[in-house]
Amino acid sequence: MKTVLLGVTGSIAAYKAAEITRLLKKADLNVVVIMTDSAQEFIAPLTFQTLSQNSVVTNMFEKRPDWHPIHISLADSADTLLIAPATANIIAKLANGIADDILSCTALSLDCPIIIAPAMNDKMWMNPATQQNVETLKQRGVKFINIEDGELACGTEGKGRLASPETIVEILLKVMI
Ligand SMILES: Cc1cc2nc3c(=O)[nH]c(=O)nc-3n(C[C@H](O)[C@H](O)[C@H](O)COP(=O)(O)O)c2cc1C
Repeated sequence: MKTVLLGVTGSIAAYKAAEITRLLKKADLNVVVIMTDSAQEFIAPLTFQTLSQNSVVTNMFEKRPDWHPIHISLADSADTLLIAPATANIIAKLANGIADDILSCTALSLDCPIIIAPAMNDKMWMNPATQQNVETLKQRGVKFINIEDGELACGTEGKGRLASPETIVEILLKVMI
């Protein structure tokens, strides 16, 4: 059974990652969810633990019986890393090789495909810093799922919506086959 690491970050769209988890399980994948601290402000790890039927990883320094560093074990086990929703912050960290939490540290340690589904305010998305970070990651082979146009949680309209869970999973499955 193939393993997908699903990174969930601190976007208002984090609740949609629950449906992504359900669809990934339905596609017979082993799903291990990694949540940033900010993501846990939006949705509880218990939701993902139940839907993924796996423990959720939230802490790099958690005491474990295994001597392996957790980010290395996760990276070695992964067939794909999907980050959905991906904040401007995690995109910036990945573009700059920052590894200061369990998700960014795992991303820096793996050699499988990385797929990023961004979600953010339209001004954050259009900011040249974000656009440059996206370009940098694309040049390194990271696959981006198109951000969608429409109504945003901050009350405006524009480019910034997370692609639908169905679209994200469809694209991921094509990459994994
Ligand atoms: C209500 C609320 C909604 C937010 N939604 C987003 C979002 O959709 N996208 C984004 O990039 N940042 C969003 N942020 C800001 C991030 O949570 C913040 O940049 C955080 O540091 C991201 O941390 P992480 O990337 O480690 O998860 C939001 C913040 C708040 C308070």
